[in-house]
Amino acid sequence: MPFALDDAGPLYQQVYRALRSEILAQSLAPGARLPSTRALAAHLGVSRNVAMLAYEQLLGEGYAQARTGSGTIVAPALPEEWPAPRAKTLRLAGSARGAEPRLSRAGARTLAIARGARLGWDIRGPRPAVDFRFGRPAFGDFPHALWCRLLGRRARKASRRDLDYGPPEGRLELREALADRLRRFRGIDTTPERIVVVNGSQQALDLVARVLLDPGDRVLIEEPHYLGARWVFAAAGVELLAAPVDGDGMRVPRRLPGQKPPRLAYVTPSHQFPTGVVLTLGRRLELLDWAARTGAFVVEDDYDSEYRYAGRRLQALAGIDGEGHVIYVGTFSKLMFPALRLGYLVLPESLVAPVVAAKALADTGSPVLEQLTLADFIREGHFERHLNRSRVRIGARRETLLAAIHEYFGDRAEASGAATGLHVLTWIRSRDGRPITSVARTALAAGVGVYSVAAYYLRPPRRSGVLLGYGPLSERQIRDGVARLAAALGGEAGMARTGGQRSGWRKR
Ligand SMILES: Cc1ncc(COP(=O)(O)O)c(C=O)c1O
Repeated sequence: MPFALDDAGPLYQQVYRALRSEILAQSLAPGARLPSTRALAAHLGVSRNVAMLAYEQLLGEGYAQARTGSGTIVAPALPEEWPAPRAKTLRLAGSARGAEPRLSRAGARTLAIARGARLGWDIRGPRPAVDFRFGRPAFGDFPHALWCRLLGRRARKASRRDLDYGPPEGRLELREALADRLRRFRGIDTTPERIVVVNGSQQALDLVARVLLDPGDRVLIEEPHYLGARWVFAAAGVELLAAPVDGDGMRVPRRLPGQKPPRLAYVTPSHQFPTGVVLTLGRRLELLDWAARTGAFVVEDDYDSEYRYAGRRLQALAGIDGEGHVIYVGTFSKLMFPALRLGYLVLPESLVAPVVAAKALADTGSPVLEQLTLADFIREGHFERHLNRSRVRIGARRETLLAAIHEYFGDRAEASGAATGLHVLTWIRSRDGRPITSVARTALAAGVGVYSVAAYYLRPPRRSGVLLGYGPLSERQIRDGVARLAAALGGEAGMARTGGQRSGWRKR
């Protein structure tokens, strides 16, 4: 059986391809007996393993058949060849060769956002030695082994129903656990029927946009704001109106340009993203009054309020709202880990059916075993224990960060919004009081990742501010990072240690 191997790829694939072309050319006739793997291996000078793997592929694809007692034969009827790809002749309807397909308007908007904004949270770039990337939980604090045990238990005991498509609104076990927790800890008196489980807040926002917004509608967003929300609304083709954020949180402008009232307002009341300001009770009531007057919905994104270090937590807007205007969005990305992709919506009754329908169309429902495991994690008290423990640990990191900022920057830095959450917005200025340019780039060159706040504004401020996420960092890394940052900015900011000088250093 003289045939040549083509030298491309793994050896067994070369042997497989050579045999297959002999079979297709009928040099090896249908029904003919193939040599034993031992004989083939000896003939080709390859290992027997290689010959066996090549035969397995021929058997799997139907070119050969195993016969008890008579080894392997060429299949009497050959499998149909897969057609060669038609890439050269196929044209996408309405497009020139090589050009992009004609997208829907929504598709084109989405692509433009992705291109303009580096959509996604880029985790591929080079890693700085200390990365103050915000929005990440304290991975090391999560009781991973316990979670694996609970997940394993659910997987082992999974019934047929657990392995089937789940309800699009989410499994009742989880919605009950969430309703109970929201009642006890967030002052939201809801029922499981008003909760829809989603794949993180991002999907929650996307579903809300799908069911409530048409192109040309208006949406009020905080200035500055969370980009994940802005992008969803921009992709929906709405007009964005900025509501300025001051020390009391977002303020609905008294007069908005034009006649058409916004369809909805997006807010982060417990820990404004990115400034960290807490929306005061007065402003909460004003916002709800405005919603009642105009008929707008208010989307309350409560992404990290569980980490409150000082003072009392205010009741969620959804708990105060008596009129069904608030759409509450919760997520487990900060409290557990983002790859879990589980979050939930608490909806006004009138929105439950349309949102469940949109969820069903989007993905038919979130993964069931994870939902059931999360329900166990909450009901068995592990979630509260985890939060209490990690609140203490993260609180210590926060103290270290604030102390390091003070020590290395003195009154040239002002930390804002540190009472809650996992990041601090730090305003930095140079010795002569001027803003510093390219803080993030300068820091990166010194091995520190900090994130400029300018990206979160429709109209960036004159001040230089950076977001410092500290959740997953050790206290040592935090000190090292701040020291490096101070040294890197030394030229412009003159960051010598200032010892005990407190003026201008404020914790809010
Ligand atoms: C304001 C805000 N909302 C929500 C999220 C979480 O999004 P998700 O639940 O989709 O992971 C983040 C994450 O950084 C955030 O900053």
